[in-house]
Amino acid sequence: MSDGLSALKEAFKTVYAESGEPRICRAPGRVNLIGEHTDYNGLPVLPMTINREIRIAFAPRRDGLVRLHNMDAAYAPCGFENRADILHSAPGSWDNYCKAALQGLNGCLEVTDFPGMDLLVMGTIPPASGLSSSSAMVVASALAYLDCLGKPINGDLSRLDLAPLLARAERYVGTQGGGMDQAIILCGKAGRACKIDFFPLRIEEVPLPKACVVVLCDSMVKAEKTGAALHRYNEGPLSCRLIRAMVERQLERDLDEEVRLEHLGDLWSGWLCMTDEEVADLFDEVFPKPRTTIEEAAEFLGCTVGDIRERWLGDLAAPEDGFPLKARARHQVTERRRVEAARDALLAADSRALGELMLASHTSCAADYGISCPELDRLVEVALQCGALGARLTGAGFGGCTVNLVPAEILEGFCIGVTERYYDQYLGISAGVDIPRCVMPVEASPGAGPEGE
Ligand code: GLA
Repeated sequence: MSDGLSALKEAFKTVYAESGEPRICRAPGRVNLIGEHTDYNGLPVLPMTINREIRIAFAPRRDGLVRLHNMDAAYAPCGFENRADILHSAPGSWDNYCKAALQGLNGCLEVTDFPGMDLLVMGTIPPASGLSSSSAMVVASALAYLDCLGKPINGDLSRLDLAPLLARAERYVGTQGGGMDQAIILCGKAGRACKIDFFPLRIEEVPLPKACVVVLCDSMVKAEKTGAALHRYNEGPLSCRLIRAMVERQLERDLDEEVRLEHLGDLWSGWLCMTDEEVADLFDEVFPKPRTTIEEAAEFLGCTVGDIRERWLGDLAAPEDGFPLKARARHQVTERRRVEAARDALLAADSRALGELMLASHTSCAADYGISCPELDRLVEVALQCGALGARLTGAGFGGCTVNLVPAEILEGFCIGVTERYYDQYLGISAGVDIPRCVMPVEASPGAGPEGE
């Protein structure tokens, strides 16, 4: 057993002196190479796991108490009662991710005796950086709990079953996320990226470019998924719900029959099986103007503004000049095409083509989807000046990291160049910055699972 695992076990025995011998499970973070804000529409994504992870040492308890400690003192110890309807902690509390996993599994596995657990968490994924530390916490908590229930992964539940279940379960914390994070964390492969399709979940392993390194650069803008970024993130999925409803109505008019779209992605599959051009034309027809007010959407759908709020938009704040639905819809078409092209580029070992697609994705995320910020734009610009073949924001956006495709032979110069031009000159903070934590070459590690057995 590695020193890190032994240290975690020893620490567990100190924190929970009266508990049994702990077991350990591990869930990696992830970086998305391309395919942003498409997963919740059932459109593909192309992420990889990273060699930063969450490890949990755990042991079952006979009572229904779940106790949580973290090796990082920034996360205060906490505990809760495991039951059918687990009470939420305040938004942003780290125990909510553990609660999300247990609540989801309790419902799906029809658990009735609600066992407890002692958990000690150790993490190396920088939080609020777009690297999915939160979903890694959900997945690791779920693996620990399944073990305590005597139903370890690949028994009753396969990885392909568990990933969508945990994606739904994570909505407990308030985000309307898709299924990318849980799928790659559970199904990722060492040294490979994965193209992921949804509904049903399908994973295709693709090789990573041999002569390049994937480097993450932290913009230093914190994107707390349960903080301010939550509402900004949810604007994507909620807008797309309205887009889906309006497109469905247009198709019913055009085809003169009932049409049901579960997800926007259904346009490209099933009996509709439309081409990108056909979908783009349809979107232009439904959204002739850049912006659509909620009143215009209600008139188009033949319903009231109240119906729209109740069925699709919830309490999403309405800009006075309307929602930019045309651009949001366009991003879905162009990003879908880029993911397919990126997969082909990886299979053909064409790093230049992949780099160009990553850059085009960043532009679309910024201009059409509104999820960038000045710091991320600057960091992408700097990365290109320093020799990256491609660079883009990654994850939910609004801060966090960029992902960069860097030729291996210029890696050192790239790291120095980005440090000087971004952290030093642009942010003016290099003196206080831990550069190895900010500019991180990463490798794809194995998907989540038990460890040290
Ligand atoms: C977050 C969500 C994912 C996905 C990305 C954006 O990470 O959890 O489901 O929507 O944002 O691509």
